[in-house]
Amino acid sequence: MPEDAQREAAELARAIDEHNHRYHVLDRPSISDAEFDRLFARLVELEADFPALRVPQSPTQRVGGEPLSTLPTLQHVVPMLSLDSSQDPDDVRRFHDRLCKALDGEPEYVLEPKLDGASMELVYEDGLLTRAVTRGNGTHGEGVTENVRTIPSVPLRLRTEGAVAPPELLSVRGEVLMFLEAFEALNERLMERGEEPFVNPRNAAAGAVRQLDSRITAERPLQFIAYDVLEARGLTLQRDDEGIALLAAWGFRIPDRVEVVTGLDGVLDYHRRYGEDRDGLDYEIDGVVIKVNDLAARARLGTTARHPRGAMAFKFPPRQEVTRIERIAVSVGRTGAITPVALLLPVEVGGVTVSRATLHNREEVARKDVREGDLVRIQRAGDVIPQVVERLEEPGRERSEAYRMPDTCPACGTPVVERGPFTVCPNRFGCPAQLKGRLVHFGSRGALDIEGLGEETSALLVERALVADLADLFHLRPEALVELPGFAERSAGNLVDAIQARRDTELARFIHGLGIPEVGSAVARDLAAHFQTLPGLLAADADALVAVPGIGPKMSEAIRAFLDEPRNRSAIERLAGEMRSLTAPPPVRVGRLTGKKIVFTGGLETLTRDEAKARAEAEGGRVVGSVSKATDYVVAGSDAGSKLDKARDLGLEILTEEEFLALVGGED
Ligand code: IVH
Repeated sequence: MPEDAQREAAELARAIDEHNHRYHVLDRPSISDAEFDRLFARLVELEADFPALRVPQSPTQRVGGEPLSTLPTLQHVVPMLSLDSSQDPDDVRRFHDRLCKALDGEPEYVLEPKLDGASMELVYEDGLLTRAVTRGNGTHGEGVTENVRTIPSVPLRLRTEGAVAPPELLSVRGEVLMFLEAFEALNERLMERGEEPFVNPRNAAAGAVRQLDSRITAERPLQFIAYDVLEARGLTLQRDDEGIALLAAWGFRIPDRVEVVTGLDGVLDYHRRYGEDRDGLDYEIDGVVIKVNDLAARARLGTTARHPRGAMAFKFPPRQEVTRIERIAVSVGRTGAITPVALLLPVEVGGVTVSRATLHNREEVARKDVREGDLVRIQRAGDVIPQVVERLEEPGRERSEAYRMPDTCPACGTPVVERGPFTVCPNRFGCPAQLKGRLVHFGSRGALDIEGLGEETSALLVERALVADLADLFHLRPEALVELPGFAERSAGNLVDAIQARRDTELARFIHGLGIPEVGSAVARDLAAHFQTLPGLLAADADALVAVPGIGPKMSEAIRAFLDEPRNRSAIERLAGEMRSLTAPPPVRVGRLTGKKIVFTGGLETLTRDEAKARAEAEGGRVVGSVSKATDYVVAGSDAGSKLDKARDLGLEILTEEEFLALVGGED
C-alpha cells in the first residue's frame, strides 16, 4: 500500500474523530455537515481501494455489520456493583452520619445525576475500544461491542491530545441513553410504520443495545455518558473527580453538572435543584448519585455483598403510577388526527397531577387491550404527554366492551378515514376542532405569540362562529368578545389589542403559525432566512425548496403539497392581506465557515494574508485579530508565536495552511 494513502487515511480518521467529538460530545461542531460528509466519503473511498486500512477503530466502522446469532457472555474486568438507593432524605442523613463516623470527619462528595438508561462497561486496550459488556448480573454481562461501536459519542480510540496518555487497560462504566426528543421521534417513526412504540427511553436504549443486528442499533439515536473509571492499569487515581476529568479528556461525554461538595446540606440542595429541573432536561434521570470523592477512603469503607458503602443513590419520586381509566375519549388535532385519550382517576405522578394520558392511536389501544374501567400503569417523562404503559390484570373483575374508535368525527360528524394506525377526520376546512387547533397553534408562543388566545378562548371563538378562518381574528371587536363567558371589557380589549399588535410580525413566526406539515419553528426560520418574503416562499418550486439547507425532498414535497392546495392557498393569502409587515431575518451567507471565527498567525506560504482573509470570508467566516475561547480555528503558519501558544492552552483547533485550504476549498 502506498505510504501516502496510509498517511492520508490516518489524517482523515483523526479529523473525522475530532469533528465527531465536537459534534456528539461537546455539542460544538466546527464544520458543516457537507464538509464532514466529504471527509468521510474520502476515507470510505481510500478504504475501498486499500482494504487493509479498514481497521475496527476506523470511523467508517460505526455503521454496523453482519448480524450475530447470539450475544456472547463476557466477564467484567471489575465487578459492576449496584448502588444502595433511597428516596427518603433520612436515609441519606444516616448514610452521611455513618461515613462521618467511619472517616472521622465530613467527607467530600462527588454529585452526579443518576442517569436512567442501560449500564455498560467499555474496555479499551492500548487506547482502542475492544469490548462493551452490559451490566448483566454484575460479574458477567452480554458482549455488545459491535452495537456500542455504532454510538457516535463512544470514542473508538481514546483522544490523546492534551490528555494523560491512556493506560494499557482501561475499563469505563457509563450509561447508554436515548434523549427524549430522539425517543419521541423514533416512536413516531415506529408508529407510522405500524410497529409497536417503546414504553420509555430506557427500554428503547436497552433494546437497541442488545440487538443481534448492529445495523439496527446504528439507526437508533443512542448516547453514551461515562461516569466511572472502573480500572486504569498503571494509573493511580486519588479522587473520583479526577477520573471524571480524565474521561472527558479521553473523549467521553460525561454527566452534566458534576459537583463536589462537603457536608450534607450541599447534597440535599443538589438533589432539590436537579429535582426542580428534572422536567426540563432532555434525558431521564431517576435521582442523584452521591460518591465519596477520596478513593482511598472509599476503598477503606469497602462494600456489602452488592453495594459500595461509600456511595448511594438519592432517588426522585417514580414517574409511574397505577390508576383507573374512567372513560376513553378522543381529541381531534389541528391536522385532523383523532387521538384516543384515557380520562383517568386523577393521580400524582412525580409531583404532577395527571388526569389524562394518551393512547396514541387505534392500533395502540387494540395492542394494549385497554378498556374503560381498566386498571392501568401510566407514566410521564419530562414534558412528554403522559401515556398508558400497560393494563394490569384483575382476575375475576368483569370488563367493559373492547374500545372502538368513533365512525364519525366527534366535532363535525364527517365519516373518519383510516391512515395506517391513525384515524383521521378528512374535513380539513369545515371541522371546528381542526380550526380550533389551528387557532391555538397560530397564537402559540413559537408562532404569533398572542397572549390570551389559548385553548378555551379559541374553542369559544369557533363555537360562537366569531372566527371561521384565521384571518377573521383580525376583525374581532371588543363588543363581540365581552359577550363570551369569562370575558369582561378589559380582557376583551386586551385580546383585541394583542391581536392587532401582531399585524407586524416576523416572517418566520408567520410561516410557523401556518401549521404546514413538517415545518416547526426551526424550519420556519430557515425558510424565512432563505426566501426573505412570503411571495418568495409561495412561488418556490420543489427544487427551490430543497436548496434550503436542512430541507430534504420529503419535507419539500410536504410543504409544496400544502401550499398548492387551493383552499390553503387562499386562506394564506387572506391572512397575509391582514398583515402590515412581515420582517425577514438577515440573509445568511452559507458557507463552510458560516458563524466561525478564524485567526491567522505566522507566515503563510501560498496565500497572502488578504487572500487568506478573502477565502475565509467567502465561506461565511469572520477573521479576527486575537485568540480567545470564542475562536473556532487558528491557522498557524511558520514562526507562529504567542497566539499559537494561547490557542494550544485553550485547546482550540489549530490548522496548517494546507488544512485551511482543504477546509475552504473543494466542491460541496
Ligand atoms: S456510580 C460504585 N453514577 O445506577 C458506583 N451509577 O444501582 C457505581 N447509574 O445501574 C455506580 N447513573 O449504572 C453511578 N452517575 C451515575 C449513574 C449510575 C446511573 C446506574 C448504575 C447502576 C445504577 C445503580
